[in-house]
Amino acid sequence: MQKILTIGAGRMAQAVISGILQQEEETFQVIVSNRDNLERLAQVKESYGVETTDNWKKHLTSSDILFLAIPPREQENLLKEVSPYITNQLVFSVAAGVGVKELENQLPDGTAVAWVMPNTAAEIGQSMTLYALGQHVKEMHKNTLETILRGIGPAQLVCEEQLHALTPITGSAPAFVYQVAEALGKVAMTKGIEEDVARKLVSQMILGSAQMLSSGQTPKDLMDQVATPGGSTAAGLKVLQVEGIEDMFEKAIEACLDKNKQVY
Ligand SMILES: NC(=O)c1ccc[n+]([C@@H]2O[C@H](COP(=O)([O-])OP(=O)(O)OC[C@H]3O[C@@H](n4cnc5c(N)ncnc54)[C@H](OP(=O)(O)O)[C@@H]3O)[C@@H](O)[C@H]2O)c1
Repeated sequence: MQKILTIGAGRMAQAVISGILQQEEETFQVIVSNRDNLERLAQVKESYGVETTDNWKKHLTSSDILFLAIPPREQENLLKEVSPYITNQLVFSVAAGVGVKELENQLPDGTAVAWVMPNTAAEIGQSMTLYALGQHVKEMHKNTLETILRGIGPAQLVCEEQLHALTPITGSAPAFVYQVAEALGKVAMTKGIEEDVARKLVSQMILGSAQMLSSGQTPKDLMDQVATPGGSTAAGLKVLQVEGIEDMFEKAIEACLDKNKQVY
């Protein structure tokens, strides 16, 4: 059984831990640590039945995997502390913007590292996760990481540059979808229904549409199925096109990328 030490016990750590514990093909021993919030550690212990510790140093050398789930700004200092205890563990981090190269630079030569970028749907096992691997990752590390990530939804291996470039699509764009949901919900409420009914209509419409997309049909085919030429949906689509919806999304993604460059 492989031993995973998790540093960080927040939302993302808990989503991944919950996924790990549901794995059937491989079992892991999970030990969770954080900075100083003992109440949160107690809650994690009670919710997931895992071991917790306020002293990760005691566990790191005997661990096979180190999972870092702490804020990006904290990671550089933590890596300095962690580094002397690294022997041959796989180290993976979910910190936004802090990629494989930074991990490799701050850890001993030869350390197997991975950078993983889930989204908030990890909490319900439906993340679209991107991950990039360092140069020292072996097949066995990759298999282990993929087993861990399966617990939070589908994952796609990309190179580090692509991970930076695609994070707005998988990580930020859920907020764009929620904005669409909010806008449509507001319109629905003007037709005389309560907010909860409006939310149900819109969320089920998005869920059904996402499942249709997952079935392999292209967005264009699906649009054509809904919009008969000259019909009412076609009239609505035309407004979106005239208003420049594609351009708008492109600009929104570019804005995320620009901001990432400034922050990290
Ligand atoms: N939430 C998301 O949807 C999401 C998506 C993709 C990536 N991420 C990444 O996931 C990471 C964690 O995010 P989160 O949403 O889980 O944050 P969070 O809920 O605020 O949890 C942060 C955790 O990190 C711990 N921590 C902070 N500094 C530490 C230090 N110096 N040493 C040890 N532990 C430390 C905190 O300890 P205490 O409990 O003691 O405060 C807390 O348990 C971030 O890097 C973020 O970029 C998050």
